[in-house]
Amino acid sequence: MADSHAKMTQATPQEIIISVLAGLFAPLVAIVLIVLLVLSIQDKHQPDTTSEAAQKATLDRIKPFATLAAVDANAPKVEKSGKEVFEAVCTTCHTAGALGAPKFENKGDWGPRISQGYDTLIKHAIEGIRQMPPRGGDADLSDTEVARAVAYMANAAGAKFKEPEAAAPAAPAAAGAAPKADPAKGKAVYEANCAACHATGVAGAPKMGDKAAWGPRVSQGYATLYSHALNGIRAMPAKGGNAALPEADLANAVGYLMTEGGGKL
Ligand code: HEC
Ligand code: HEC
Repeated sequence: MADSHAKMTQATPQEIIISVLAGLFAPLVAIVLIVLLVLSIQDKHQPDTTSEAAQKATLDRIKPFATLAAVDANAPKVEKSGKEVFEAVCTTCHTAGALGAPKFENKGDWGPRISQGYDTLIKHAIEGIRQMPPRGGDADLSDTEVARAVAYMANAAGAKFKEPEAAAPAAPAAAGAAPKADPAKGKAVYEANCAACHATGVAGAPKMGDKAAWGPRVSQGYATLYSHALNGIRAMPAKGGNAALPEADLANAVGYLMTEGGGKL
């Protein structure tokens, strides 16, 4: 009995080697299996960048930056066509008729509006009317762009308006090319952009309302004054230093300064 017990516990050298190897090997195998498992889980979580949906999502994510990078602040503004303005801005309401907007290509909706005439429609589109926001809500649109979009929409519903051509681009001194000034609307523009110099006469600026200072300037005529305000003259910076100032606003401010300085438009 004692003999058989001794036999059971007594291992041969081979058995010892095998058990030592197995003891080393088993944890190794376990580690390898765990690593493989983790890798396979990570693999499943890797985003799939090849599918169309994934690519679209990426594009949407980077779009704001991509668009920003493409905009050169110094590039002259190229005015959009009526169709482009419509597709960028007006379609939001005018395609489906949101808020009661006259629907695109719907003659019934547009007929009575068209009969008001092109100028009235442009005025309403620029200034806004009831639920229709000024410039369709995009303050960056120029008058020309809005007028073109109005023609585009009205013509699609049977009108025969002629989209305005591009305002003669940078023909600076061309007298008569100045937009019409509305001095009543110029006060706010003046206060925001011009008063810094013209209120007190900084750098020799003719003072607002000072008829002696404005007299000789006013006699140059509105178109010339506008052109000087647009392009700058001596210490007077182009557009009063605000390159983003729309020309219509600038014209109104010039008209305001001019009439307050004793001139007539
Ligand atoms: C937020 C919605 C909205 C957007 C965006 C919009 N409109 Fe309108 N528009 C309206 C609504 C609503 C009316 C109807 C207003 C009314 O007569 O009560 C309207 C009416 C008009 C009219 C007819 C005005 C009249 O006198 O009968 C014109 C012209 C017009 N829009 C032009 C435009 C142009 C151009 C754009 C794009 C630059 C634009 N709209 C973008 C909502 C919109
Ligand atoms: C940084 C100061 C400054 C700002 C801001 C400024 N001006 Fe002037 N402006 C001047 C000066 C200086 C002159 C006189 C230039 C000269 O004749 O030498 C002047 C002259 C003018 C003249 C007369 C030009 C002529 O031919 O006699 C007009 C018109 C004018 N400014 C319009 C404006 C308008 C409109 C704005 C705002 C949009 C504006 N200015 C903003 C400094 C300024």
